[in-house]
Amino acid sequence: MNYQSGFANEFASEAIPGVLPAGQNSPQRVAHGLYAEQLSGTAFTAPRHENRRSWLYRIRPAAMHKPFVQMAHTTFHNRFDETPATPNQLRWDPWQLPEAPTDFLDSLVTIAGNGSAAEQAGVGIHVYAANHSMEGRYFYDADGELLIVPQQGRLRIATELGVLEVAPLEIALIPRGVRFRVELLDAAARGYMVENFGALLRLPDAGPIGANSMALPRDFLAPHAAYEDLEGDFELVAKFQGALWQADIGHSPLDVVAWHGNYAPCKYDLTRYNTVGSISVDHPDPSIFTVLTSPSDTHGTANMDFVIFPPRWLVAEHTFRPPYFHRNVASEFMGLIEGAYDAKVGGFAPGGMSLHNCMSGHGPDAASFEKASAADTGKPDHLANTMAFMFETRKVIRPTAQALAAPQLQQNYYECWQGIRKHFDPSRA
Ligand SMILES: [Fe+2]
Repeated sequence: MNYQSGFANEFASEAIPGVLPAGQNSPQRVAHGLYAEQLSGTAFTAPRHENRRSWLYRIRPAAMHKPFVQMAHTTFHNRFDETPATPNQLRWDPWQLPEAPTDFLDSLVTIAGNGSAAEQAGVGIHVYAANHSMEGRYFYDADGELLIVPQQGRLRIATELGVLEVAPLEIALIPRGVRFRVELLDAAARGYMVENFGALLRLPDAGPIGANSMALPRDFLAPHAAYEDLEGDFELVAKFQGALWQADIGHSPLDVVAWHGNYAPCKYDLTRYNTVGSISVDHPDPSIFTVLTSPSDTHGTANMDFVIFPPRWLVAEHTFRPPYFHRNVASEFMGLIEGAYDAKVGGFAPGGMSLHNCMSGHGPDAASFEKASAADTGKPDHLANTMAFMFETRKVIRPTAQALAAPQLQQNYYECWQGIRKHFDPSRA
């Protein structure tokens, strides 16, 4: 499968050659009887360098469906105020795979979040664990863009603008409003999804690091146009202001034959990340591992950062190499795609997750601290076969009632720090 390369480029793609109108966006007649439709991802008047929109040339306009009806209780929502947010450190075991046929959309469980679609700030954090493809149903999220982080199983994400295939160690970014269907390419699929209510995710500024390193624009891949010309009794599900709504639709909404613009889904291979770190002593802050950031209205303070902890060499001398003990004004939600995380000996399994909220102390467990403190830092260490990630937000991340009631919540997580020994001795050098 071929992709178009670049982050938020002005792409152009047509599944039938000659469809894209020359010199116009919405001509009186589009080739082959198609309709022209604009999809705006930013305000019409957003500054040129932030302005995001695409023009879609499609079989039927997106307006054509029956009325939406709100769906009954779902586990995918944005109710972050059902229970008090807790300063406790939290950790969950991996979500179990379903036994009954369950598709991506039905499997979504909201774990935590903050802000709301209404205030256009914050995030929703969800997990999925599915064993069935979405059949005859399509979904879009009007509340935020979606960052999907597969942990197990490959996904084929058929969107209005084309098809993305993503495997664990890749991520998919689906813009707000883009309609899509998720198919499973393996027997089961599990992973994480963050819903970003704030400013669109972008590549972070790199300051003195310069134009290279970290995530590079050319490694983000957008799909080519691919359309379905299908009629039938289908379902369109919308997420709107925190709730799911369902409408009948008599055709596939994935009927865009050609498109151009800079508002498009994309995927990124996390193993392409060019990791930067200390080559002398001590730690840079983990912000050097930022793949994408959603800025807030406060300069330098993100609504959300997507950060990864990839395989890397640790070479800093005379220092404690694993992540340090810290408290953070930001709140940190972590997941593990594969391997082990270097600050925890056990308990944080691939597919699991942890939450360390604003000013909650955390860091290496007792065993990791002792091991790293005794390590010979005259020799480099290589961390292999590991990929952890973090959704870091400026607002406190509020777990949902269903996440706190889940059997996956580890009741004894705090114990990993209880074995930390007192080494203090004023008479010792
Ligand atoms: Fe942390």
